[in-house]
Parts: sequence; C-alpha cells; structure tokens
Amino acid sequence: MATFATTDLSYVDGYKLLTGLVVPRPIGWIGTVDADGRPNLAPYSFFQAVASHPPTVLYSVGVNDGDEKDSLINARATGEFTCSIVGMEVAVGMNQTAAELEHGESEFDFAGLTPEPSIDVKAPRVAEARASFECRVTQMVELGNQPNINVVVFGEVVRFHVDDEILDGTRIDHAALDAVGRMAGNGYATTRDRFELIRPQ
Ligand SMILES: Cc1cc2nc3c(=O)[nH]c(=O)nc-3n(C[C@H](O)[C@H](O)[C@H](O)COP(=O)(O)O)c2cc1C
Repeated sequence: MATFATTDLSYVDGYKLLTGLVVPRPIGWIGTVDADGRPNLAPYSFFQAVASHPPTVLYSVGVNDGDEKDSLINARATGEFTCSIVGMEVAVGMNQTAAELEHGESEFDFAGLTPEPSIDVKAPRVAEARASFECRVTQMVELGNQPNINVVVFGEVVRFHVDDEILDGTRIDHAALDAVGRMAGNGYATTRDRFELIRPQ
C-alpha cells in the first residue's frame, strides 16, 4: 500500500488524494448577493450538513494568493447565503455556474437559471432546484497557511424550501430528489443505487 506524508506532498497532490478519496461529496449550490444586491451563484463540494440543532451547513472556499471568490466576499459582506440542492436535472446548469465571471456578473444569467427570491435572506435561490435552504452566517474559520488557505463558512439554516412533489411530511423522496454528488475533477455520481442497513439494537 502506498503511503504519503502530507509534508512531502505538493498542494495539488494533497488536494487530489483528499478529493479523490472522500467521495462522493454533496454539492452546495451557494447563492449570495454582493453589497450592492447583485446576485451570485457557484457550486461548492467542500460542503456538508454539520449539525441538526440548529440545522447548520458549511462550505469551504479555497483562497489562493489572497484571491477571494465571490461566494466568500458576499457572505462576509451580507452575513447570508442560500444553498440549493443539485438534482440530476440541473447538473449541467450547476457546472455552468462554476465559470469564473467578473465580480457582480450573475451566474444565474450566464447559466440560464432563474433567481428565486428568498423570504428571510436577500440572497436568491435556484428556482429550478427541487430544494434549497436560506442561511445566516454564524462563523467563518480560516484553515491552513498562506498562500493557499481555505475559509470555511458556517451557516444556520433559517428556512427550508422543498418541492411538494418530493415531500411526504418532512421525509424526502430520494428517487425524486435525484441528488448528484461530486467525485474527483469532472466526475459526478448519482444517488440512484441505494440500499438499507438495519442498525443493531
Ligand atoms: C462541482 C464543483 C464543486 C466545487 N467545489 C468547490 C469548493 O468546495 N471550494 C472552492 O473553493 N471551489 C469549488 N469549486 C470551484 C468554484 O465553483 C469556482 O471557483 C467558482 O467560480 C467560484 O465562484 P464564485 O467566485 O462566484 O464564488 C467547485 C466547482 C465545481 C464545478
């Protein structure tokens, strides 16, 4: 079995090993607005649900040589973001929104997606997604050392939006949600092959 001490690895190789092995990763499709109210949308697969009470999610933004991405700049400026869930029917659109546009240029327009106004936060959601969350930033944690750091943005979910068609009470129909996850690089996985395990008493 090969073994790698992290100290011997380049930044890129460490990234490849980590993201190649922690799979599939859920994708948070992060909606924000800038200080002037202009919308922004981008996918983040360093994304996870990390607490249920209060419901909390996080996404982690790579910052190389101090070059901050809009999803970080905007969340810091407004203290808010949304997170839409990526189903198979919007996977291609999600990928489009990873384009690096000028600050203030909308990925919603670029990808032909509809910004759905939120209720409790200013950031819009993706109308075409079957579920989305409205979130308030609770903390930001800086990881690593310059020049390649990550800033982890924690957000408390203040509102859930779920398409009636995929909902039974508060249970989700996963076949209908049809969520996709990220493998490495340009690779993705569906959630179409599922199984159950009964926990021991
Ligand atoms: C599926 C997918 C997942 C991504 N995950 C991340 C991530 O976790 N962290 C990150 O910094 N960039 C990630 N990216 C790249 C960003 O989406 C990309 O840099 C984008 O342009 C950032 O947009 P923004 O400046 O509007 O925030 C990902 C791209 C894709 C396609």
